[in-house]
Amino acid sequence: MTILVLIALSFSAAIAQGKSKFLGNVIGGSVPANFGNYWNQVTPENGGKWGSVQNSQNSFNWGEADVAYNWAKSNGAIFKYHTLVWGSQEPGWIGSLSNDAKKTAVTAWINAIKAHFSSIDLIDVVNEALHAPASYREALGGSGSTGWDWIVWAFTQARSAFPSAKLLINEYGIINDSNEARQYLEIINILKSRNLIDGIGIQCHQFNVNSLSAASAKSVLDQLGAAGLPIYSSEFDANGNSEADQATIYQRIFPPIWEHSSVKGVTLWGYITGTTWKDGTGIVEQNGNERQAMTWLKQYIASH
Ligand SMILES: *[C@@H]1O[C@H](CO)[C@@H](O)[C@H](O)[C@H]1NC(C)=O
Repeated sequence: MTILVLIALSFSAAIAQGKSKFLGNVIGGSVPANFGNYWNQVTPENGGKWGSVQNSQNSFNWGEADVAYNWAKSNGAIFKYHTLVWGSQEPGWIGSLSNDAKKTAVTAWINAIKAHFSSIDLIDVVNEALHAPASYREALGGSGSTGWDWIVWAFTQARSAFPSAKLLINEYGIINDSNEARQYLEIINILKSRNLIDGIGIQCHQFNVNSLSAASAKSVLDQLGAAGLPIYSSEFDANGNSEADQATIYQRIFPPIWEHSSVKGVTLWGYITGTTWKDGTGIVEQNGNERQAMTWLKQYIASH
C-alpha cells in the first residue's frame, strides 16, 4: 500500500522536484489539469500585468493573478509576480496624468500588490527596460544622474514594499546578444551597488533561441554571471519546422542554460500546444500526449 502511494506521488511530481533549480511555467485564466505533473514554479501569464489588473484606475481585478498565486501556494511551488513597471500593457489612463499623479499611481499600484499577496517569492520589478521602457519613466526620475534613475526608484519602492521577496529585472534579446547583455549589465550593476537587486531575468523566447548556438548562449551567461547574481531564464520557449526540429533546439539550448552555475531556475512561457503565446512552442498536446521536446526534457532533467 505504502509503495503504491509512493509510486503514485513520484509519478505526478514536478520534473525538477528535489533539484537545486526550479522548472516553472505560466498559468493563464485556469490551471491545466496536468500542471503539477511538470512544474514547481508559477508566473501569471498576463494576470499580474498592470493594464490587466487596473484597467480602470478605481478598481483592481486580481482574478487571474489569484489563480496562479493560489495554485502555487497550495502546491508548494515558487510564485513569481510579473510585473511592476513595464512600457507594454500599461493601463490606458496613465498617459493623461500629470507626472506627480503618475508617480502616485505607480506607488499605489505597488502598494496594492503588497496588500493583496502575502507571500511573493520573486518579482519582476522592471520588465524590458531596454526594449519597452515605461512611458511614465520621467515621472519616476527619468535618466537622472545614474542614467537609469527611474529604475533605481522602482527597485527602491519594491525593496521597501517586499522586503522578503527576491527582486529581479527581466529583459528579452539578451541570451543571443553580448552587446545587449553589456548594456543590461550597466543597469544591473547600478542596482547591485545599491543592494536593490537579487537576480537577473533573461526571457529566452523562441525568436532569441531557435537559431542560437550553445556556445553563444554559454558565453552570454558567463558574461552576466560575472555580476555575481543568480540568473533566471524567465520566459523560455522554442519552436522549429517540426516536432523533431523543436526537440533538437531544446537539446542544443536547454543544457547550457540549465547547467550554468549562475542559473537558479527556468520558467517556460506556456507548454500546451495551441494555447501558447508563440505558435508551435507547445511541448504537450491538448490530449496530454507529450511531444519529443518534453520527452527529452524530462529525461534530461532527471539525469542532471
Ligand atoms: C537577438 O535577437 C533580437 C530579437 O530579440 C534581434 O533583434 C537581434 O538582432 C539578435 N542579436 C544577434 C546578435 O543576433
